[in-house]
Amino acid sequence: MTPYRVQLVCLGNICRSPMAESVLRRQADAAGLRRQLAIDSAGTGGWHVGDPADRRARAVLSQHGYALDHAAKQFQPAMFADRDLVVAMDAENLRDLRRLTPDKSTAGSVRLLREFEPDPDSLDVPDPYYGGREEFEGVLHTIEVACTGLLGHLNDAIRSR
Ligand code: 4NP
Repeated sequence: MTPYRVQLVCLGNICRSPMAESVLRRQADAAGLRRQLAIDSAGTGGWHVGDPADRRARAVLSQHGYALDHAAKQFQPAMFADRDLVVAMDAENLRDLRRLTPDKSTAGSVRLLREFEPDPDSLDVPDPYYGGREEFEGVLHTIEVACTGLLGHLNDAIRSR
């Protein structure tokens, strides 16, 4: 069976979406869903294409036992046809992605990560780029909680195919 394809998207693809990629992979492994999912990440901007994840993102991930081997890439409109679900980290990413969608039905397949969180205090994963270690820790925690909800949704989507 072809895997269910999820695209995680932030602005630069060096902080939030690579962190979400790493977290979702580990959660999928733990749930026995890894082979049913193809998890990828990209940025709406192209400034960091080819770069590894931000060193603060790498540090916080490795302190929490997450693996990540990453080279940043930019989201391409052709990815819409090639993915089952596109997941934005914040409202700005969502707006930028919807501008790139070829039609209204595709626009509906773009969601916010924190929509999958049971009781979010905000729908944005805040951009930690100009923050410090504490912001990166907070973002990792937010991503872990939201990805747990996302994985539940993915599990349902896989089973109802
Ligand atoms: P990300 O964070 O979108 O979570 O990867 C950022 C990375 C780089 C920039 C902004 C946000 N930047 O302005 O270069």
